[in-house]
Amino acid sequence: MNRILVIGATGTVGREVVSQLHGRGAEVRALARNPDAAHFPAQVEVMRGDLTRPETLDPCLDGIETVFLVWTAPPAAVSAALERIVRHARRIVFLSSPRKTPHPLFQQPNPLRELHARIERLIEDSGREWTILRPGMFAANALTWWAPQIRAGDVVRWPYLAAPTAPIHERDIAAVGVRALCEDHHGGAEYVLTGPQSLTQAEQVATIASVIGRSLRIEEMSPDESRRELLAIMPMPAINMLLNAWAAATGQPAWVTSTVAEVTGARPRTFHDWATGHAADFRA
Ligand SMILES: NC(=O)c1ccc[n+]([C@@H]2O[C@H](COP(=O)([O-])OP(=O)(O)OC[C@H]3O[C@@H](n4cnc5c(N)ncnc54)[C@H](OP(=O)(O)O)[C@@H]3O)[C@@H](O)[C@H]2O)c1
Repeated sequence: MNRILVIGATGTVGREVVSQLHGRGAEVRALARNPDAAHFPAQVEVMRGDLTRPETLDPCLDGIETVFLVWTAPPAAVSAALERIVRHARRIVFLSSPRKTPHPLFQQPNPLRELHARIERLIEDSGREWTILRPGMFAANALTWWAPQIRAGDVVRWPYLAAPTAPIHERDIAAVGVRALCEDHHGGAEYVLTGPQSLTQAEQVATIASVIGRSLRIEEMSPDESRRELLAIMPMPAINMLLNAWAAATGQPAWVTSTVAEVTGARPRTFHDWATGHAADFRA
């Protein structure tokens, strides 16, 4: 039996991976720093583990063949945690980023690229079977970026409104991940995953407005204003990473792939689909 450990199980993508694995009857174990707050169905095994405390990982990895890995822990913890993961697992599916894709949105230097490259190297050098998922912008970023403003009033202030991206639904990232976890022909694959449409950020906000039946005013914010005002919702390195990426990407369509459909056989969900499913998050 292929027993699967999901690391990052309580997050945007990991929770979907657990849910889809559970739905297809796979043997899934969710790693959580705080199992009491994890809220999974009773049939899902949840074990306490912390990537920054490597000794907690061994019991979570015991009897596991396959690992789905999301890394948002501090970089200093990478070596010790990866050493344990590759010792136990036969197959690893890692959620990375499209750092090799020749589009300016993905080619700006930033610390996250280096971190992902380092983790990928450790996985690839381990001799284990691996699959790398390289999703572009998550549709779910809208929950952090725009939902607080939309719940509070009728104005959305945001930088680089003309920058296009191809936001991807977390369910589609998870669906590809689940295939790679459960099927035997994804070893060595690097899947660049995007949503089906290139949409400017202004078009994305307008889509949410239309889905929730509200009229929103969208105002361009300068990069300097963004560095001040967005600190309330994300740290400065993330703000700078995004500003650089949007600046470089403005003026050309987003990179769009057909990988979700090729791997899963299903039509990838649109941003409109995503906004419809999350409409309640944007209502006051
Ligand atoms: N957002 C985007 O547009 C985008 C695009 C491409 C790639 N990515 C990549 O996607 C990844 C983030 O995925 P996501 O949004 O699904 O993550 P997320 O929602 O931020 O969730 C992070 C998960 O990691 C867990 N975690 C954090 N620190 C941990 C630790 N020390 N030990 C064990 N677990 C820990 C969290 O668990 P707790 O419940 O314990 O906090 C949570 O389950 C990042 O690598 C990011 O670079 C994001």
